[in-house]
Amino acid sequence: MTGESVAQGCPVTPQGCPVSDRAAAFTPFGDEYQHDPGAALAWAREQEPVFYSPELGYWVVTRYEDVKAIFRDNITFSPSIALEKITPTITEADEVLRSYGYAMNRTLVNEDEPEHMPRRRVLMEPFTAPALVEREDMVRRMAREAVDAFVDDGEVDLVTEMLYQVPLTVAMRFLGVPEEDIGPLKEYSVAHTVNTWGRPNPEEQVRVAHAVGNFWRYAGHVLDKIRQDPSGPGWMQYSVRKQAEHPDVVTDSYLHSIMMAGIVAAHETTAHAAANAVKLLLERRERWEELCARPALIPNAVEECLRYSGSVAAWRRVATTDTEVGGVSIAEGSKLLIVQATANRDPRHFEDAERFDPRRESAGEHLTFGYGAHQCMGKNLARMELQIFLQELTTRLPHLELVEQDFQYVPNTSFRGPEHLRVRWDPARNPERHDPRVLEVRHPVTIGEPSKHAISRAMTVTRVERVAERVVRIRLEEPDGKPLPAWTSGAHIDVDCLDGDEVLTRQFSLCGPPDDHHAYEIGVLLETDSRGGSRWVHENAVEGATFHVRGPRNHFRLDADAERLVLVAGGIGITPVLAHADRAKSMGLDYEIHYAGRAAEHMAFLDRLRRDHGDRLHTYVPTEGHRMDLARVLADVSAGTQVYACGPDRMVQALEELAESWPDPGALHVEHFSSALGALDPGVEHAFDVVLSDSGLTLRVPPDKTVLQTLREHNIDIQSDCEEGLCGSCEAPVLAGDVDHRDVVLGRGDRAAHSRMMTCCSRACGDRLVLQL
Ligand code: HEM
Ligand code: FES
Repeated sequence: MTGESVAQGCPVTPQGCPVSDRAAAFTPFGDEYQHDPGAALAWAREQEPVFYSPELGYWVVTRYEDVKAIFRDNITFSPSIALEKITPTITEADEVLRSYGYAMNRTLVNEDEPEHMPRRRVLMEPFTAPALVEREDMVRRMAREAVDAFVDDGEVDLVTEMLYQVPLTVAMRFLGVPEEDIGPLKEYSVAHTVNTWGRPNPEEQVRVAHAVGNFWRYAGHVLDKIRQDPSGPGWMQYSVRKQAEHPDVVTDSYLHSIMMAGIVAAHETTAHAAANAVKLLLERRERWEELCARPALIPNAVEECLRYSGSVAAWRRVATTDTEVGGVSIAEGSKLLIVQATANRDPRHFEDAERFDPRRESAGEHLTFGYGAHQCMGKNLARMELQIFLQELTTRLPHLELVEQDFQYVPNTSFRGPEHLRVRWDPARNPERHDPRVLEVRHPVTIGEPSKHAISRAMTVTRVERVAERVVRIRLEEPDGKPLPAWTSGAHIDVDCLDGDEVLTRQFSLCGPPDDHHAYEIGVLLETDSRGGSRWVHENAVEGATFHVRGPRNHFRLDADAERLVLVAGGIGITPVLAHADRAKSMGLDYEIHYAGRAAEHMAFLDRLRRDHGDRLHTYVPTEGHRMDLARVLADVSAGTQVYACGPDRMVQALEELAESWPDPGALHVEHFSSALGALDPGVEHAFDVVLSDSGLTLRVPPDKTVLQTLREHNIDIQSDCEEGLCGSCEAPVLAGDVDHRDVVLGRGDRAAHSRMMTCCSRACGDRLVLQL
């Protein structure tokens, strides 16, 4: 084991620093981690977010931001160890493996650049939306047949009878493995998991080595068969055909290794994810029933299940240079276990993170599929399978219940799902016995990320109050009075506002008391140049009206460790600032509020602010002879001070200029309400046309939208993952026009050729691009 101090027997990091007791005691091979890795490491995320595990010889990373940053930077944090054995093997086991000619090497998931990305791109086509649509009928038929086989039995192990078997057959069909070869795969897959991510004892190592050796031979045998006839629709047949065109990119070693690793990647991950999802939902009966009543929620519920109880709990990277993670120095060569399961429940990223909420808008931001250049290529196939399983089970067996049982897991760091899932129901109550039309229902499957509109909550306006000239405060509650997801200061909700036939979504900061779990309160200014959003809200906010709401989300979080907080608001920008001020007060922090408005009667919440914040409030009202002088207000932004601001663009711009001279310009936090759009500056960008040669459409891309957003608005399906030019999934072929490339995916040659582009970020140099879509 690495890093143990010999002198006192107390473990140390490779740099010789002592390891805390909890870090020293951490094991991913015990029950606690297996049952709920997110919860097992919650202590670390809060107290020691990056710690050294002497048991593993790995640095363990637990916060969302750090895990994502590592996934994002596959150059500093190489994936080359992703399939390395986490437990060093004994010589005897190595010899057994050698006797089978075992030579597992680079695939995709553990390949470095510059080899990885060209290979990923050459092999991507079978994973695209049009290719996956072709697979939907097959997946549904298999899921339906599996349910047919036990629907009248009243009790079944869902894993054995459906959730293991169907993903296995789907994976084999997707890869193109002949069905007669499926037999021994379960034993092989478990052996591969234990061999790669588990802690087998020496005896087990030898047994596992035989199974893995056989798996390797088996993969070679299947590949040979495929090579004899590479004409089928499977991904492996496709890969063999691509090898003929690109022998340097799709190598022999790659094909043999992916033949074996691909089976596990496509099967175990999805089978476990399905079992985790059904278990999670049945344990929360109310949620299960919500999906039975509203199947449109299923695509988002799948994302929330993957967030809350994903099937890949942790992944691995190795540092290629001396670097830093979350403020901790990491030396070149250090190995990192990046724990998606804890990151996915990080309250710094997800509001009310411990709540399982199928309507969570940000559910799709989980890291269970990884992120960036290596993000799971099969994620949309997995999503499709999971949606279909939940659709079939909620429609045909809505009265399903969990049998009381002890859940067993294969002890390992990464792949996680119960080995058995016993459920029961009363077959006499099967809906199809009373109404056979149940079997005709076919709910649509969403390929890619779920639509946001399906998850909105219909909320009732229960109070409307004028709080300033043209400003109303609106209270919204669930019609059945149920508690709402909790939120922290700085959070906002999205409200769907109708403008003619168009739905405009507008963001409003929450400004009521955060401990009121039964209502959300927003303050809304009627903008003079409103395009419809605020006008719609003002016209429709009457008691008893229904608003469609999503969220809450928070891009404007308060740093509760700051020594001093300066909160700056202009006009209606007071709403998030008010929430921050209330929170700062309740936490006993040092804070001051600077609030500027046109005239006192235009300034919302003044009475409340004066009452609750007394001397900490400074107001600036030009009609009373006080203008806000930002330079004076912010003359002393020393280290330890954090500034939070929300207000008109002019004010924000002035603040950004001032911040340039602060010791830490990052101390300025501004609320924008524009998420990804914020990256585009409409003042600098120009509009252009994209002509879609296959669809015969010409679309105008405005300066404040990406090509991807414009395509989606016109129902052109296009995959995307990172939406920041990192992963290559949103690529589109370009037939004419020069591209202003802004991604990091394409190499110099591709850029110069202007024959392809990443639609999430790249734009046109001129006024027109022709895309082959
Ligand atoms: C990569 C998870 C299903 C094929 C990955 C990675 C993760 C993952 C964590 C590494 C990501 C990274 O390093 O950033 C999952 C989960 C699944 C699933 C949780 C199911 C719920 C599938 C399926 C397939 C597949 C069904 C194939 C049909 C791949 C491939 C890669 C990959 C080819 C390598 C991509 C690359 O390195 O460029 N997956 N996966 N996965 N997955 Fe999946
Ligand atoms: Fe990742 Fe565009 S490059 S979505």
